[in-house]
Amino acid sequence: MSMAPQELEKSASKYAAAAIRADSQGAVGMAISDYQNASDTLLKLIQLYPTSSLNKIYKTSSQKYQERIQALRNTDGGNIAPAVDPNASPEEQTKALARAQPNKDEGGNLEDLVMKEKPDVKWSEVIGLDDAKSALRESILYPSKRPDLFPLGWPRGMLLYGPPGTGKTMLAAATANELDGYFINVDAASMMSKWLGEAEKNVSKLFKIARKYNKREGKPVILFIDEVDSLLGDRNSEVGGEIRAKNQFLSELDGVNGKGKDTMIYVIGATNKPWSLDEPFLRRFQKRIYVALPNQDAREKLFTQYTAPLKKSSIFNSVSIAKQFDGYSASDIKDVCQGAQLLVVNELFHSPTYHEPVNGEVPQATRALTMADFKDIKARRKPSVSIENIRAYHKWSESFGAL
Ligand SMILES: Nc1ncnc2c1ncn2[C@@H]1O[C@H](COP(=O)(O)OP(=O)(O)O)[C@@H](O)[C@H]1O
Ligand SMILES: [Mg+2]
Repeated sequence: MSMAPQELEKSASKYAAAAIRADSQGAVGMAISDYQNASDTLLKLIQLYPTSSLNKIYKTSSQKYQERIQALRNTDGGNIAPAVDPNASPEEQTKALARAQPNKDEGGNLEDLVMKEKPDVKWSEVIGLDDAKSALRESILYPSKRPDLFPLGWPRGMLLYGPPGTGKTMLAAATANELDGYFINVDAASMMSKWLGEAEKNVSKLFKIARKYNKREGKPVILFIDEVDSLLGDRNSEVGGEIRAKNQFLSELDGVNGKGKDTMIYVIGATNKPWSLDEPFLRRFQKRIYVALPNQDAREKLFTQYTAPLKKSSIFNSVSIAKQFDGYSASDIKDVCQGAQLLVVNELFHSPTYHEPVNGEVPQATRALTMADFKDIKARRKPSVSIENIRAYHKWSESFGAL
């Protein structure tokens, strides 16, 4: 098992702090080795988690450390200005250290983390989840189109919870698309990163961005916060700041909830761990919607959709396949279909008669996929959600669900 991203990040942060300390004391050798470690750790993070929204920040910091290493090397330990003047007052030293730390400048990179484009996911592409769809439709589309019909106001906070890979992100994106509004998509776990400056400030900046977009054209704004449970911090890593970030978030939500009908900001939070949310948090998400694993009907549709472009034998039957994949999430099913296709592609490449198409020849095709291929994949690919886990969601829903 490799280290979790938070662990790696923490370790990079430690190296960086040690490097800056050594640098400020003129301990060139140590500074170089710690800068190198910090830089390597950041690059490792990028490599292990290539889709993380923080990668741009890691890259910039890593480059900064490399430049500093070069500067230190080029002066043979001689007359280089230290990163921090050792004769400066303690306050000045602290400030200089803070400057050398990545992105302490008011979370200036938050905007980079936030995705604002209008998503192109359609309702019809989100398979199953009829209850969740109608709950979102009622709570967001109706009041946006006819605020006059809601003299008592309407809920602005919605929580989508359920196992990973079931369509929470898709649902939020489809809602924003249908609404012709802005979609602000941010990952709370990244927002809590120390590399992004103070989490508390990032939270307030995020809501500021939402208000700005809402005012600009009077279009509704959906603020989608993925992994919203990270705002509460995890018990294992008490770095401080979480409590302030969480309180900031709660008060921002109160602000949004207390707004009149001219303000169209909706906050959709998503989580796989609803049980880690506390009462003050839940109270502000008046709608709590369970995004469940696909049922038989949804699995049939998923198999039909994901195998549509694939070559299948005539005995291929999505009803019977769907039955065999009970317990698999939508995203698991997509992986299974990808895996099945890879199986026949592999066979083709390994066939003794395989060759690349030469001048205008029709490329060799794979054989058709059979039911046996899917059985083969199933033996190797377990569902990503356990039955105990599903029970935990059901149990939580009984106490806290609110459609
Ligand atoms: N209900 C669904 N219908 C169709 N495809 C889905 C559905 N749920 C998940 N997927 C597929 O799995 C991928 C990951 O889903 P996502 O919405 O990110 O899940 P979550 O946010 O619940 O973890 C999607 O991009 C899509 O390809
Ligand atoms: Mg998601």
